[in-house]
Amino acid sequence: MKPVPFLDLGLQYQNHRAEIDRAIAEVIESSAFIGGRFVERFEKRFASFCGAKRAVGVANGTCALFLILQALGIGPDDEVILPANTFIATAEAVSACGARVVFADVDPDSYNLDPASCAAMISPQTKAIIPVHLYGQPADMEAFLQLARPRGIAVIEDAAQAHGAIYRGQKVGGLGIAAGFSFYPGKNLGAYGDAGAIVTNDEALADRIAMLRDHGRKAKYLHEIPAYNMRMDGLQGAILDVKLNYLPAWNQARQQIARRYAEQLHQVPGLILPKTFKDREHVFHLFVIQVDRRDPLQKWLKERGIETGIHYPVPLHLQPAYRLPGSPPPRLPVAERLAERILSLPIYPEMKPEQAQWVVEAITEFARCSLGWGT
Ligand SMILES: Cc1ncc(COP(=O)(O)O)c(C=O)c1O
Repeated sequence: MKPVPFLDLGLQYQNHRAEIDRAIAEVIESSAFIGGRFVERFEKRFASFCGAKRAVGVANGTCALFLILQALGIGPDDEVILPANTFIATAEAVSACGARVVFADVDPDSYNLDPASCAAMISPQTKAIIPVHLYGQPADMEAFLQLARPRGIAVIEDAAQAHGAIYRGQKVGGLGIAAGFSFYPGKNLGAYGDAGAIVTNDEALADRIAMLRDHGRKAKYLHEIPAYNMRMDGLQGAILDVKLNYLPAWNQARQQIARRYAEQLHQVPGLILPKTFKDREHVFHLFVIQVDRRDPLQKWLKERGIETGIHYPVPLHLQPAYRLPGSPPPRLPVAERLAERILSLPIYPEMKPEQAQWVVEAITEFARCSLGWGT
């Protein structure tokens, strides 16, 4: 058995240990534990990386989305449209504001919010649309902006899985009114704990969010609005600042593994591989295939020491948290079908070519044994 983990953060740390240890020591020696110069330096560099004017560091990606919605004044009686296939945090941020979550279906090729389904969900109460750049694939932002602009609806990017992804020549993060990023440890850019950021070209919105994350203040004991404590830690800012230097190379390494998978798996029957689009650059936070016999394949790979995941097994409109008592859930057939068929293969920058090869061989062997393919 040749084990392949789903990701290997320990190895990544070993590769950059000296630099990261130095950054951690610097924060501790200067006692800049909350906010402060390390967070500010990272904010400046991350905004510039995204090609946007401002980044505001916060406690996690869920807070990032919540604070954008709060700063835009979205609340009770408002509706926000988002895809049924995403991590639950996208919806939670809306619920936490008191607004109503409206789930739309996803596109069968990109797995992202389907513009036609989104259009069908727009009502006079719709205040925002949150396209999610799921798995690292940019959503079709132009379609959402065209729907939203004439109606005065805000388009907020959920870029939690897509640091560095490109849509029509522009990095995600600066494409809508604002974007929420997560630096959860396993993300393409991950902290050593929880962290997140808002990225925007709107200076006034960034200033308001900076106040909302820090007890509603600009000066120490002058609180201008009732707000929250959703700040980024200095340690996370310093670690992210080191890791940001490697993000382009890490994304390229992910893309290379994705190419290897695609080249070697495209002939295997019963699989659908992730699509890429000419106008977008996918950064493969996840490499998600569709498989006819998903659960048996997952078991087969597990028995061979290959870790996989399912992102996500239950679409959000079918989650207990979002079922409305007494009324049937909406039918969102693409999201429902995908939930039964998707499987995320291991992909991470430190993955060795031979590890990707073992994954390919194990999947090929499964197709041979279960379908008699190639025999
Ligand atoms: C699509 C998406 N949105 C939002 C979030 C929330 O980020 P966090 O876990 O940092 O709160 C995540 C994180 O897993 C995510 O994948």
